[in-house]
Amino acid sequence: MTRSQDPMERPFSTVAVVGLGTMGAGVAVAVARSGRRVIGIEANGDSAARALARIAETTAHDVERGRITAEERTELLARITVGDRLDTAAAADLVIEEVPEQLELKREIFAELDRICPAETVLATGTTALSVTRIAAATSRPERVLGLHFFNPVPVMKLVEVVRTVLTAPQVAEAAAAFARDLGKEPVAAGDRAGFVVNGLLFAYLNQAASMFESKYATREDIDAAMRLGCGLPMGPLALLDLIGVDTARTVLEAMYEQSRDRLHAPAPILGQLVAAGLLGRKSGRGFYTYEAPGSSRVVPGAGGAEAVRVAGRDVRTVGVCGSGTMATGIVEVFAKAGYTVLLAARSQQKADGAKAQLAKSLERSVTKGRLSAEQRDAALALVTPTGLYTDLAEADLVVEAVAEDLAVKRELFATLDKICRPGAVLATTTSSLPVISCATATSRPQDVIGMHFFNPAPAMKLVEVVSTVLTAPDVTSTVLDLCAKVRKHPVECGDRAGFIVNALLFPYLNDAVRMLQEHYATVDDIDTAMKLGCGYPMGPFELLDVVGLDVSLTIEQVLHQEFREPGLAAAPLLEHLVAAGCLGRKTGRGFRDHARR
Ligand SMILES: NC(=O)c1ccc[n+]([C@@H]2O[C@H](COP(=O)([O-])OP(=O)(O)OC[C@H]3O[C@@H](n4cnc5c(N)ncnc54)[C@H](O)[C@@H]3O)[C@@H](O)[C@H]2O)c1
Repeated sequence: MTRSQDPMERPFSTVAVVGLGTMGAGVAVAVARSGRRVIGIEANGDSAARALARIAETTAHDVERGRITAEERTELLARITVGDRLDTAAAADLVIEEVPEQLELKREIFAELDRICPAETVLATGTTALSVTRIAAATSRPERVLGLHFFNPVPVMKLVEVVRTVLTAPQVAEAAAAFARDLGKEPVAAGDRAGFVVNGLLFAYLNQAASMFESKYATREDIDAAMRLGCGLPMGPLALLDLIGVDTARTVLEAMYEQSRDRLHAPAPILGQLVAAGLLGRKSGRGFYTYEAPGSSRVVPGAGGAEAVRVAGRDVRTVGVCGSGTMATGIVEVFAKAGYTVLLAARSQQKADGAKAQLAKSLERSVTKGRLSAEQRDAALALVTPTGLYTDLAEADLVVEAVAEDLAVKRELFATLDKICRPGAVLATTTSSLPVISCATATSRPQDVIGMHFFNPAPAMKLVEVVSTVLTAPDVTSTVLDLCAKVRKHPVECGDRAGFIVNALLFPYLNDAVRMLQEHYATVDDIDTAMKLGCGYPMGPFELLDVVGLDVSLTIEQVLHQEFREPGLAAAPLLEHLVAAGCLGRKTGRGFRDHARR
């Protein structure tokens, strides 16, 4: 196949890579695979020899795995030369610098490259958190300097952030994006700001998770499980911090805080402590978790974790569910499928019957999809009794309330339940944004009241946040934790404060994304693409906001801001504007994207 000669389609035929460590070696191989000549440059002869050996090894591994043929490997290696003289970069059209993350080192190298390379050569830095502008200022050609931020591991990760400073010429950024595309990568455009798109959004969230752990609001296992199961993230935040390196995370956050002065970016004190103690994460064998050995991904179970001592729970045979909406119906399904007798209580018999009909439909869908047998469907339905009389809940051992998200409505219901339910019955609320304690104090038995925050759709989502107030009795918490396990849900424990675990970590991140858009830092599509490809998220932040609903998101953000009074948590004005304009997301056909026209 003959390659196109159009320099815009296939820019930079010879590329120098300075620094062949983790990133540089990966970049060198990716560039050589695209058919380009690569001039690899290391600090000295020894490190050059080591780099060459590493490249030989990784490509041999690629052959073993069938990713490339032995012949392709030979050709690829023939295109790479490795030495220790920076002046060999003079023959390149593009130089990519991948030396350690130190500003002075990078500036020295750029000043040298500026002297060595012809005026038209483009110089790119691989920095994660340093200022590209300050690196460019070490040269006499800032218009030909930009950032090319690859992700680790380079062969696997498709994303490349193409970082323009205010001085970078647009055609240079375009050529760099075309180059990235030609390597089989997906470029997104970013401006020069600490963290760029992905880390700018990711690290603020990781920092909040570290703070949450530090304040002992929840255990490390529960924080990680909550974000994996509640949001479908590939890894929990604390496990991810261990993978990235606690020291690296702290450096990135320091750089972000330097620029933003946003307290949410100020590294959580625990990060500094871990770094000072040499507990840098997987690479040192211990960080938030303890690993079998330095570099190992295998966690030693229980090591360093808080040992929970649990009292025995109460017996639960009959469950009451109040409400007739999506959550109530889903929760009824969960209990009925697990074999519990369920009383489905709504404001009228008609509403209760309607909810049972919805349940029947949902079970029918499961049968059609082969997930449930007809017998199981019939057995589950037979266990559910719809009623328009709350007094029927007198015999329930546990009542879960899933009525409207309105405190007055919930308090009234709890006062009613207090009169009806037998002594010792557990009363649970599914609220996602109201204080559980306010439901508890509407009763004369606050010790029996607890939060059970299910996720939508309840039958499918494995997570339940179990929210104990300061008054919840320990055996009530045990009862609900045991019950979750019996209905095959994964419970995580937390205290009664706004957002619990998931929303308190998720919504500030979504809000940061809106702020990024509002500041014209990056586009909706670029931000969504960056988070999906850079972090392996199932959806980008704007896709998720449009699904959740902008009004619902705004309410949660307001509740979080009201609770913590953190200036950085104030809802982005753009979100408020869109809600005021009636653009609520998919449900109205328009949110951050126009769904009607798609
Ligand atoms: N590791 C990651 O996950 C990751 C991801 C994206 C970007 N980055 C960024 O990429 C850059 C490189 O990071 P890394 O993880 O590959 O580091 P690394 O320590 O693995 O590699 C750096 C390499 O540079 C070489 N080097 C040092 N001084 C040199 C000099 N004067 N001339 C030539 N080579 C020199 C070292 O010998 C080493 O091989 C950093 O700016 C980092 O922030 C890293």
